[in-house]
Amino acid sequence: MSQLIPVGIAGLGHYVPEWVVENDYFTRFIDTSDEWIQQRTGIQQRRWLRDDQRPSDMFVEAGRMAMERAGVQPEEIDLIMIGTVSADYTCPTNACLVQEKLGCHNAAAFDMAAACAGFVYTMATGSQFIATGTYKNVLVMGGEALSRISDIYDRNSCVLFGDGAGAAVLQPHEVCKQGLLEGFKLAADGKGYHYIIREYGGGLKPVTPQVLVEGSHMLRMKGREVYRFAVAKMIEIMEWGLGDNDLDDVCLVIPHQMNLRIMETAREKLNIPKDKMEVNIHRYGNTSAASCAIGLSEAWAADKLESDKLILLAAFGSGLVWAGARIRW
Ligand code: UT7
Repeated sequence: MSQLIPVGIAGLGHYVPEWVVENDYFTRFIDTSDEWIQQRTGIQQRRWLRDDQRPSDMFVEAGRMAMERAGVQPEEIDLIMIGTVSADYTCPTNACLVQEKLGCHNAAAFDMAAACAGFVYTMATGSQFIATGTYKNVLVMGGEALSRISDIYDRNSCVLFGDGAGAAVLQPHEVCKQGLLEGFKLAADGKGYHYIIREYGGGLKPVTPQVLVEGSHMLRMKGREVYRFAVAKMIEIMEWGLGDNDLDDVCLVIPHQMNLRIMETAREKLNIPKDKMEVNIHRYGNTSAASCAIGLSEAWAADKLESDKLILLAAFGSGLVWAGARIRW
């Protein structure tokens, strides 16, 4: 095989819906409190789609922002990939809906399901098309509308999730000259498939009237069991990301925002200074596939991405899957 082409990030974008859902909102439906949610998760509020908004709308906004920041026209995009498990329809994909709305008429389009690791998995996969010289502009996105598939009466999960989407335009690094993708780590362990699962409504167990009554077509999570895995795997990915690099060489670690306690445990274990970890869970909740992408886009907008320094993404989610990315800005 001929030499691979180094890949960079030409532009970043994100979108969160306008509707702010405070913790107190849930006390109307379940036995919970603002105090419990803040203490156990770090979440103060999250954003949810209004009834008249579509999950795909979020990707249109995030994708448009990333293209504008990259200075790329819609027709220049060769491929759109979206990491999501809460698309508008089970079939067709959100990527096709978004391709049409953005006017990316020359782009191939497909979705990828890697749950909360969706953005990192998508970025790793999308970058291969640039690295091999197949495409010049790839729009990768991660996002979820988990409010649409969560059960408002299940206090173990409904308080955690927020809606949102994030996007990146990938190009050959010699073109965009920033955000060099130095390496990825993608991993999975299917033995844990049942820990975070939407059991009914797929090909194996279709929706029946009984399923609708029981609400078993909604997302269910065994939080305590997942917690243990999440801590161990987040530490593992961050360790991989740091590698032999000095902490002074790292400008920002952007973990998937699943629970502030999990992020803090990993940060403390690896002696990462507090100001080097991006946190948005207090404002947005757990936005699943979007959280690393939103963190990256907001950090760029806040001028936190320093030239030639490392940025580490670390994600973990249903599957079970976990993934990391090492980016040199
Ligand atoms: O993003 C994908 C990956 N997801 C994760 O990594 C999530 C990982 N898990 C977690 O973040 C935490 O396990 C949760 C936030 C889901 C739960 O926190 P926890 O500290 O692990 O609580 P717990 O499950 O051990 O439950 C403690 C108690 C239980 O009551 P009992 O059985 O001790 O009487 C729960 O029923 O807290 C109760 N509880 C709640 N109480 C008030 C669970 N949810 C709530 C709630 N409000 N919303």
